[in-house]
Amino acid sequence: MPARSVGLAPAKAILVGEHFVVSGAMAIAIAINLYAKASAGLAPRGSIAISAKGLGMCEDGAESLRESGSESGPFGPLVSMVKAFLERYGIEQGVDIRLSSEIPLSAGLGSSAAIAVSILVALSSLFGIRLEREEMFELAFVSERILHGNPSGIDHATSIYGGAIAYSPSRGFRRLPVAGEISLVVGDTLKRRSTKEQILKVQDFLKRNPEIAREAFERIREISEGAISCLEGGDMEGLGELMNENQALLSKVGASSEELDRLIEASIAAGAFGAKLTGAGGGGCMIALGPPDALGAIEESIRRAGGTPYRVKMDDMGSRAC
Ligand code: MEV
Repeated sequence: MPARSVGLAPAKAILVGEHFVVSGAMAIAIAINLYAKASAGLAPRGSIAISAKGLGMCEDGAESLRESGSESGPFGPLVSMVKAFLERYGIEQGVDIRLSSEIPLSAGLGSSAAIAVSILVALSSLFGIRLEREEMFELAFVSERILHGNPSGIDHATSIYGGAIAYSPSRGFRRLPVAGEISLVVGDTLKRRSTKEQILKVQDFLKRNPEIAREAFERIREISEGAISCLEGGDMEGLGELMNENQALLSKVGASSEELDRLIEASIAAGAFGAKLTGAGGGGCMIALGPPDALGAIEESIRRAGGTPYRVKMDDMGSRAC
């Protein structure tokens, strides 16, 4: 058994279909090259200690925060997931987990899912357990459900599998072939919001407006199918147009925000093929799909509109031990 084991897991960006995926529609996401990292070591029997550096979770900016087995603190959902892992494999040994992450929290990039997945990779490597990706998917749901209420599973599916995936709750995931490079700029509004509340807000709107919902679901199905063809054929301009249409639907159902709209407009003005919010919206991040030679101008335009831009690439490998 190694002294410590390390797991790495990527963030995700949803290209089309967020929110509608919660009610069963298909969404398309890619893993991106921003990572959460977990290092796991042995601890006394019965103890689960989780500490973090640079997660932005510590109230006073302190470098680390420690918990031992508490399921009610800020790391509570992760403690519950670790307990589920240890119970599943009949492990009585305690564990000490150290986290770090470069993924902005509560910003639509799947930070909580990536953190959960990185822990599962580190633990399986520490105990020499061959954890199938399907099992990892089930276990990461433990913390994701506590945090987000009724998540679809797309965030941790994308982090686990990497690359581009089509996902629907009933059909699961499918890896998608991608022709060419996806050149994305992420723009962070720096406004934080709760994914759980955003999900509830949009689901409530869809319930109260069945006619708008019916039309939106129909159009989302076409948008997602169109996005798969665009990825397969390397038609980034076509994909951008579909992203714009998806953004109009997301605005209609109340998922966008003024800050997001400002960064989206700034990206389009700077030459993006398409731009939309990504993840739960209400704040958090948007994504702009560029032609590669417009990425610099898009970044600059996002900055001028008050956002923080990150240029990102697709991560093809998904979660891994390292
Ligand atoms: C969150 O990244 C995406 C949502 O569709 C929620 C989910 O699918 O779990 C808003």
